[in-house]
Amino acid sequence: MPHIYAKYISKVLELPLKRDNFIVYDRFVNERAELFFVSQDGVDFALTLRRKNNRYLIKYDKATRPASTFILTKALSNLAIALECEVENSNLALVQKKESEVSPWLLKPNFFEKNPTFLDGKQAELEVGFGSGRHLSAIAQEFKEKIFFGIEIYKPAALQLLGRIERENMPNIFVVDFDARLFLQTLPSDSLDKIHIHFPVPWNDSPHRRVFVKKFIDEAFRVLKPNGTLELRSDDEVYFKDACGLILEYKTSNFHVFKNRQILVSSKYEDRWKKQGKDIYDLIITAVKKQNDDKIECNFDFENAMDISIAEQICSLPAIVFDGIVVRFEDAFKSESGAFIIKIILGSVDMPESKYIYTRDGISSFYPTKPLPIRDNMIAFKKLKEKLYGKSN
Ligand SMILES: C[S@@+](CC[C@H](N)C(=O)[O-])C[C@H]1O[C@@H](n2cnc3c(N)ncnc32)[C@H](O)[C@@H]1O
Repeated sequence: MPHIYAKYISKVLELPLKRDNFIVYDRFVNERAELFFVSQDGVDFALTLRRKNNRYLIKYDKATRPASTFILTKALSNLAIALECEVENSNLALVQKKESEVSPWLLKPNFFEKNPTFLDGKQAELEVGFGSGRHLSAIAQEFKEKIFFGIEIYKPAALQLLGRIERENMPNIFVVDFDARLFLQTLPSDSLDKIHIHFPVPWNDSPHRRVFVKKFIDEAFRVLKPNGTLELRSDDEVYFKDACGLILEYKTSNFHVFKNRQILVSSKYEDRWKKQGKDIYDLIITAVKKQNDDKIECNFDFENAMDISIAEQICSLPAIVFDGIVVRFEDAFKSESGAFIIKIILGSVDMPESKYIYTRDGISSFYPTKPLPIRDNMIAFKKLKEKLYGKSN
């Protein structure tokens, strides 16, 4: 990740500082670090400056990381110039070459918040954890009239498929490098025809880490159209039997089981297991639809501004963990302008989001963006407001 090591930082900045498409509009300090809220080419995020063994490390703030490393690199370079720092070493020149990360086929996890009608009237399928992307590319090329979403948590695999999409012209595949369990929660109800999950990691020793759990199945059923299917393919007998057990717990269920069924294409994993003589199992489940099973309404507005005295107290509180949800207060910073921020972690314990609550001129809001509009984040936000205001308003 892009960073700069500097020996000496001489300049105190007059804010807001503007040069070309770079703005530094607030600076926060506590005993541990300095934080700059910046905007580069219209994208808001934070950069941090920390003292490390007689020198300074300037880098991005993880909680606010922009999607493009290219933008981040430009902002770091602009901040270093503004601070007139003596750069000892940096990796900006190396990182800058990787602009290819910005692809029109790479969607942000909040894509459906901004484009809720994108799938209206379309046929669409989603693959969870596509790995090499061999299966996803094959079905996308076979069914060119359909839209395909590939959700992969491992970024290098996502970047590899994005390269293939451009080289082999597969404009009907969209990639999201995110946790599929959370992304699914952002999709509109009744929007997909199929969800494929091929060879998920079995996690037989820690089943709570699995993707195919009741919460995922419920969410898949909500997102699938009536008669849409959830299709699990696995070489792991223990995992497969657990999956069948989960489906049998539903009051009504309609599913088919196959052993060593041939499908359109064999993935890299599948080839490996077949060579070892392993059996391959398929579970194809038709969605069980609930009445009025709509996507939860999410509103992440703070009705009242946070008080600075609460901000200071709250950071010493232990994490709040309940029903797979977490709210944890991490750190607080003040700025010379009278603004203050609290860094918090909130959402699902499996993949919580890191955000700032920014209070300035009598208004509190999430920075740089609101949490993803999903059930777990909304439940966590209600709990956060109870802590802040003593009630869930
Ligand atoms: C065993 S590999 C199978 C890859 C591919 N489906 C195949 O058949 O070759 C499991 C894949 O799921 C991805 N994965 C694991 N958990 C995930 C999650 N929560 N969301 C999205 N992808 C995930 C992993 O990064 C990995 O690429």
